[in-house]
Amino acid sequence: MNFFEHRDGEMFAENIKVSEIAKSISTPFYLYSTASLTYQFNQIKEAFRNTDHLICYAVKANTNQAVIKTLGDLGAGADVVSEGEMRRVLKAGIPACKIVYSGVAKTAQEMTFALEQGIYQFNVESEPELYQLSEVASSMDKTADITFRVNPDVDAKTHAKISTGKSENKFGIPWGNVREICQRASKLPGINLVGLDLHIGSQITKLEPFEEAFTLVAGLVKLLREDGHNITRLDLGGGLGISYECNDLPPLPSDYAKMVKRVTEHLGCRIILEPGRFLVGNAGILVSTVVYIKDGEERKFLIVDAAMNDLIRPSMYDAYHEIVPVLESNEEILLYDIVGPVCETGDSFASNRPITSMKTGDLLAIRSVGAYGAVMSSTYNTRKLIPEVLVKDDKFAVVRPRPTYEEIINLDHIAPWLSE
Ligand code: LLP
Repeated sequence: MNFFEHRDGEMFAENIKVSEIAKSISTPFYLYSTASLTYQFNQIKEAFRNTDHLICYAVKANTNQAVIKTLGDLGAGADVVSEGEMRRVLKAGIPACKIVYSGVAKTAQEMTFALEQGIYQFNVESEPELYQLSEVASSMDKTADITFRVNPDVDAKTHAKISTGKSENKFGIPWGNVREICQRASKLPGINLVGLDLHIGSQITKLEPFEEAFTLVAGLVKLLREDGHNITRLDLGGGLGISYECNDLPPLPSDYAKMVKRVTEHLGCRIILEPGRFLVGNAGILVSTVVYIKDGEERKFLIVDAAMNDLIRPSMYDAYHEIVPVLESNEEILLYDIVGPVCETGDSFASNRPITSMKTGDLLAIRSVGAYGAVMSSTYNTRKLIPEVLVKDDKFAVVRPRPTYEEIINLDHIAPWLSE
């Protein structure tokens, strides 16, 4: 479902013209659709309706509290990877009992905070982390419910930078060590082993890698039960891909759910899911204005007011994002390099992209940027972080305003010896 459609040549976000929002908020800005978030969440919920499950939105994909709250109000829990994310999630109203805590470098301070809040589970990624958690929890007279994140050494067949389930990746307990570590965990104070966890990568567009990994983990659950562990939860991570190009056909949540059932149902475990991109990726666009059109010797450059600091995915992962004019026209189609103002050649959103002839001041929409867009932005080149706007039907609200230059510049302090 596309909630950013053109009607009579005008792009709408749900039931409001994108150009109207651009009139009141200067570009560039992120624009999110509530209906899209809701639709995506309900697809997963529906797919797992007959399974005991908890959908923990991986908030790293988009940590705007309005987005978290929209999903939280629909029943989502959260997967967090830092105290900062935990604080945001709690502030947005998701209760601690629906929070799972992932990440390879949880500090004692972060563990203390999570235990004070009473989160649902820690996904422990290494033996040193296990000992640290045992120490922190027992000193607080608490017991931490944990899963071990295991590394099944499965190729997720996605971009190398977002592949996490191969043995050379830093994530999870090495497959061959899991039984031994579980034995040690069962003797530690402050630790209650309740399950296993895995996350093999992101933007996975085939079911096979998931199935291979889940089958391995299901086998491991059996072994651990034979070893006497009471394994009741299986956290399957996130990773379900979305369509970035109109002919991409990622797996349907219903097919993903059927496969999960087939592979894990016999275990009777509660299933935890950590979708990020699937929930928010297609729920966001980035609206930008053409600043200049420059005819290079070999290329035609469309220089826009958004840059790699606002959306790093094309520069960082060579990611493809559809880019469309907000107002359609019957002009001829030209090939453009769509680039930003940052002083790097890598500051490019697309090269040789066919698009109808544009002029200065025209609006463009970069699609599918709801996930890993705003959250990965920076103020590189002392550019202001761009606003985030949430639409619901024919209403919109700025859910993160554009900061002022003072707010950015005053973060620096002149060292005392410099001001003498
Ligand atoms: N759970 C864990 C433990 C994760 O590390 C991640 C993502 C997720 C869940 C959510 O995965 P998703 O459902 O969104 O695929 N910045 C990259 C993506 C990095 C993903 C990091 N981990 C990008 O822009 O493609």
